[in-house]
Amino acid sequence: MRNVKIRLHFSEYDSVKKLPLSDQRLLEEARTASKNAYAVYSRFKVGAAVLLENGVIVSGNNQENASYPLGLCAERVTVFAASSQFPGVGIKAIAIVAHSDKFLVKHPVTPCGACRQAISEYETLFGKDIRIIMSGERGKILVSESIKELLPLAFDADKLKK
Ligand code: THU
Repeated sequence: MRNVKIRLHFSEYDSVKKLPLSDQRLLEEARTASKNAYAVYSRFKVGAAVLLENGVIVSGNNQENASYPLGLCAERVTVFAASSQFPGVGIKAIAIVAHSDKFLVKHPVTPCGACRQAISEYETLFGKDIRIIMSGERGKILVSESIKELLPLAFDADKLKK
């Protein structure tokens, strides 16, 4: 038996202005997208934006449903939209941000487990790390260099092979 420890890394920024300009731009796109979220039940409006290898930015937001579990997070709406509009084009980065009609979002929005798995699919597919930029309305901004930092030991296509 062997005990294995995994160390995870991310960067913390105190202010948006300290982020690289391309991250600031992507966050801004995500923020704009969050305004169009269909979040009539939670009132928690999330926006995401991905920067593709071809320089295009695709954005999306959470889409809820009267049948609650059917709703989809902003991250999955966005990566699925990017992959459907630009199949075969890798994802360089994704920015995620949220605001609420009910309270000030003071913590960065980190993707849920299902979205981590969905993002991981594209990192594996293209063999390129995806930078994850996570923000709230205020407070710290977190940056991970790869989805592996948020989802170690991910299930991927290799596990489906003999
Ligand atoms: N949500 C996202 O879109 N992304 C996240 O990372 C966390 C949660 C959405 C799902 C639901 O519409 C609302 O936020 C409240 O959970």
